[in-house]
Amino acid sequence: MGDPRVTEVGYASDAGRRIDYREINAAIQSLTEGEDDSVALMATVASELHHADDRFDWTGFYRVVSPGLLKIGPYQGGHGCLVIPFERGVCGACARTGEVQIVPDVDAFPGHIACASSTRSEIVLPVRDREGALIAVLDVDSDLPDAFDETDAVELARILDAVFAR
Ligand code: SME
Repeated sequence: MGDPRVTEVGYASDAGRRIDYREINAAIQSLTEGEDDSVALMATVASELHHADDRFDWTGFYRVVSPGLLKIGPYQGGHGCLVIPFERGVCGACARTGEVQIVPDVDAFPGHIACASSTRSEIVLPVRDREGALIAVLDVDSDLPDAFDETDAVELARILDAVFAR
């Protein structure tokens, strides 16, 4: 049984459940109101985002645990690698540059770290606290090619700011 999102003419562009960013932002704000524990916040955000959109096959955080080093945080999906130096991977590129990484084809990204062989595209965003310090990155992987766009970048960043920089 193949991926139901795959049609005989390619990937169905609007296959499955698609996130409603206004709705999910309101839900996350309500669920996390008054909470400032970063693990609790990351666990809630990862869970809510992951189950809101069929493009999201892995959704989770890598935390900045020391200068130049990321370690896995709360996530949804198959196991993820535990440690990522800033020099490696899409997550490392995001942490190193502070810029959102939208990767339409992970096989074309030098140094991509494949935690799952099924991953085809990825988006990674910086997570900053209220002082603007980088505390983590949010990584979302998809088994669909070219699954993410600027709207995802803007809306996911809006959610991260509202939760972690408040
Ligand atoms: N693909 C990421 C690694 C994290 S696993 O995908 C969950 C990267 O290249 O940094």
